[in-house]
Amino acid sequence: MSPSATLSRSETWSLLVLLGASFAIIVNTFEGEGEPVIASLAFSGVAFAATYGMIRWLGPVFIKAGLKGEDKAKPTEPELPETMGAVCAVVYLLLLIAFIPFAFYKDIVAATSGGGNRDVVLQTEQIETGRYLHRFPHNKLASYLSGLLSLQVVVILGIGDDLLDIRWRHKVLIPAFGAIPMLIVYFVDFGVTQVVVPVPLQRYLGPIVDLGWLYYIYMAAVAIFCPNGINMLAGINGIEVAQSVVIACLLVANDMLYLAPFTPYPHPATDSHLFSIYFLLPFIGVSLALLCHNWYPSKVFVGDTYCYFAGMVFAVVGILGHFSKTLLLLFIPQMFNFLYSTPQLFHIIPCPRHRLPRFSASTGMLDASVTEWDIPPPPLVSRALGILQRLHLVRLTKNEEGEIIESTNFTLLNLWLIWMGPMKEDKLALRMVALQTVCGLLALFVRHRMALLVFHEDNRGIRWHV
Ligand code: UD1
Ligand code: MG
Repeated sequence: MSPSATLSRSETWSLLVLLGASFAIIVNTFEGEGEPVIASLAFSGVAFAATYGMIRWLGPVFIKAGLKGEDKAKPTEPELPETMGAVCAVVYLLLLIAFIPFAFYKDIVAATSGGGNRDVVLQTEQIETGRYLHRFPHNKLASYLSGLLSLQVVVILGIGDDLLDIRWRHKVLIPAFGAIPMLIVYFVDFGVTQVVVPVPLQRYLGPIVDLGWLYYIYMAAVAIFCPNGINMLAGINGIEVAQSVVIACLLVANDMLYLAPFTPYPHPATDSHLFSIYFLLPFIGVSLALLCHNWYPSKVFVGDTYCYFAGMVFAVVGILGHFSKTLLLLFIPQMFNFLYSTPQLFHIIPCPRHRLPRFSASTGMLDASVTEWDIPPPPLVSRALGILQRLHLVRLTKNEEGEIIESTNFTLLNLWLIWMGPMKEDKLALRMVALQTVCGLLALFVRHRMALLVFHEDNRGIRWHV
């Protein structure tokens, strides 16, 4: 094994201590009443340790298998292993399967001497021991497994994308295939397609509207948007994973609001948010391990596999946890990046294969990358670009005749560089992490405070009788 593929002594010991502590907690929680949230935290520790070690060991193996990419923002453009998201995804999926006995009641069969009478199943109420010791009844297992199945589909197709470099217009639909298991199980298991109408519209539409099949289109759109949103806000070291970690942490913070002692209990959304936490904590574990290797200067790339996997984890918790609108609020930078990109995505302006910021070897800084116009743009496009330039939304280069010969690429990263000037790669990545965090915190504030302006209640405060 090459030296770059081995763990240092201090890394090995730290990971072993983390693994040991996590296993001890897991064994303890399994023998006790089963505190799934604590067990989930310990599973996240295992997730971190396993992913951290495996990424280091597998780097050279991936390069040998042809899974590699050039780091374009470095003077020598070194080749790095790509598709490391596949390691995260495999560790994550196996751990979520191993977690099933912690999250769900065994269908508790009253034991009788000699065999067991399978018809006598204890009522869940009898075993329910309290707020945090709460395991799910079996009917939730179908959603849980459908979430795992969706993630598996998206990971398999994501690895295919990384191997074959599928064209953008085709790969954008990969998450739609991934969403199928989740939506089919939603249809037979839950099937609720009603939404609460904001107060100002209730006069016209009534308090609740049944969207029927439109709701399935909406859920599929969420599942397509989240993975692609992350994949498009990419191209500098660490940014795909860092934005995913921020979103995941904000979602966990939002989940905690529903589980905290000041929230009325039992609450109809408690289970949904516990469900979300069980999916998110191990995700944060594998992602942090990947981030350690992928942050500037990257030793590995995450690949489209990671972007699809991360986006799908969010889609699964948002859809199956019934908080997809809150989820979308945490994707404001990705939404902006997508809307801003549309002129290039729809080929009104040429879209090169890569739009990542341009590295200048002489300064060591990144600046906005450009699209070159071989023939000058048509008059209407020229005029539109002129207006966008006046609004500081694009930077143009013109020839002596005043024709546009270059326009900057329409991505959030490039726009930031136009506004703030050239900067180092890690500084730009940190700025994006800060932007994601501030937008997310504001969004959650609006969600829980301002929602009262358009809805009767923030659902965190509803006192329902269940
Ligand atoms: C998406 C973007 C593309 C952007 C690319 C960067 C759209 C429609 N597509 O394409 O504009 O250039 O992501 O990931 O918005 N790379 C680096 N440094 C990094 C990360 C990636 O140099 O920190 C390069 C590497 O050469 C790597 C490649 O980007 O191999 C990965 O690109 P890929 O994920 O295949 O691009 P897309 O997702 O298709
Ligand atoms: Mg990509």
